[in-house]
Amino acid sequence: MDLIRTAADLRAATEGWRTAGASVGLVPTMGALHAGHRSLIQRARGERDRVVVSIFVNPLQFGPEEDLETYPRSEAADLAASEREGVDLVWAPSVEEVYPPGVDLPAPDPGPVGKTFEGAARPGHFEGVLKVVRRLFDLTGPSVAYFGDKDVQQRFLVRRMVAAEPGLGVTIVACPTVREGSGLALSSRNARLTPEERQQASCLFLALTEAAEHARAGERDAQVLVALMAREIGATTLARLDYAAVVDEATFTVAATIDAPSRAIVAARFPHARLIDNLPLPAPIA
Ligand code: PAF
Repeated sequence: MDLIRTAADLRAATEGWRTAGASVGLVPTMGALHAGHRSLIQRARGERDRVVVSIFVNPLQFGPEEDLETYPRSEAADLAASEREGVDLVWAPSVEEVYPPGVDLPAPDPGPVGKTFEGAARPGHFEGVLKVVRRLFDLTGPSVAYFGDKDVQQRFLVRRMVAAEPGLGVTIVACPTVREGSGLALSSRNARLTPEERQQASCLFLALTEAAEHARAGERDAQVLVALMAREIGATTLARLDYAAVVDEATFTVAATIDAPSRAIVAARFPHARLIDNLPLPAPIA
């Protein structure tokens, strides 16, 4: 496995592979790799000739009050995990390699969806995400990039960015959220939860499951599902509900009724971490 730190070396390596006819899969990460990341890498490994993992804690997607400085970093363990998973190349650049001073890089506009939910809670977040993902696509030239379902709004916006720029030639593959036995979605930030918070953190999954069960049983009123989710999370002593909503999968806008593919989404703040999660809402049993 190659460890590369410069943009020029990444571009040269992936260009060489593509010239030789190999397909390149990209798994973009901010490191602190867990089983969720490993599932993305395994999918890429199974589908593509060459697999690139990027490890970069992107300062542009953190607000001034957020946890950029304390975001979990574990490069040695991440490299070992990548090697075990059969990754061909890890790109672990400095900020200057990603954002060279004085160079005007493409800055895709997340549009109105970028200002809702995660974008409302974290102003500027999606501008930062799209800028770094666009840069990663430019340097790596992947035919496929792999994103986890947990960050579903991010995945929606990345797909829309790619659709607006077909020349990028990249397909976005969504991979299922990996969960602990309690239902808690794996996230690098879970490491911050105290044992008591971790125990209560499954309230997000419980709320989503309850909404999904009611949808399966025939409930079509999104407000009813939202109220159920808010009640479940609101009853959890250490959780403060940020939002609970049902969105239309095609537009990522609030759905009033469940008459098209929809997704329940939630976010809650615990004393040591803010968590997000989501589940697709099933069609009613006929
Ligand atoms: O999902 C993440 O880990 C990040 O938002 C990403 C896609 C690697 C961009 O920094």
